[in-house]
Amino acid sequence: MNMDPFSLIVAILVYVAVIVFFAGMIYKIVIWVKTPKLQVHLGMFPKPKNGFVRFFKLLKDSFIFPQAIEVDRWMWIFAILFHLALLVVLIGHFRLVREFTFVSNVIGQEKLSLLGAVGGGTMGIILIFALIYYLFRRFASPYKDISVPEDFILLILLVAIIGLGDHMRFLGDIHTEEYRAYFQSILHLKPAFPETLAASQTRWVLSWHVLSVDLFIIYFPFSKLVHVIGTFFANLVRSE
Ligand code: HEM
Repeated sequence: MNMDPFSLIVAILVYVAVIVFFAGMIYKIVIWVKTPKLQVHLGMFPKPKNGFVRFFKLLKDSFIFPQAIEVDRWMWIFAILFHLALLVVLIGHFRLVREFTFVSNVIGQEKLSLLGAVGGGTMGIILIFALIYYLFRRFASPYKDISVPEDFILLILLVAIIGLGDHMRFLGDIHTEEYRAYFQSILHLKPAFPETLAASQTRWVLSWHVLSVDLFIIYFPFSKLVHVIGTFFANLVRSE
């Protein structure tokens, strides 16, 4: 076993996180389903007659949330940038599961790595700036007055995940194949570091990155962020 006790606990916590996440989401969905339906009809206003237009509006309200532009323009701009960058980064993380051979076959392995470095790096910077904006916003009124500890816990967890991810991206000395071997070992229920990673200090950054992800995933179903799923259902009810 080439893993230090801390990294091993972090890797095992990945399984705990996945179990808690799914159990928590099922618990949440059961509560939503059991909640008696409102007698008052919460329709869209103005309600588009055509079902297709209503569905399009549902998607627009869920993913672009145009109502927020008038309330706080900068918050909306950062929110859109943050979520788009997050999507790109999470898609990029699939390289940890399997290499994007369909891309490397076309542009070559070197260019794919360059794309990952430039794309991942750019998105990583956008994410950290958006988070710093969100954090500072909560130190000024009126947001300061309505902020609760949960708001800060979530933001700090995200700053940790993204800051440590950026650290690996900009200062790490490890190739994607090594990271993939580590991630594959977790997927195959045999957590281990490949040799280069075990010998590098970057393993600490990786383990802290994964630990922050573990905590975030465990907390997610019980936090306000569960709105990601809730919003869609709320907009679905409104579009009925
Ligand atoms: C267990 C799950 C995860 C693992 C094993 C993991 C691992 C990694 C690794 C190895 C890198 C460095 C990539 C490189 O330099 O080649 C990285 C970067 C990064 N990670 Fe993660 N990560 C995980 C989940 C997440 C999540 C959930 C987020 C976001 C909420 C995230 C955000 C980032 C960011 C922003 C970067 C820097 C930009 C980039 O390289 O894409 N990671 N992660």
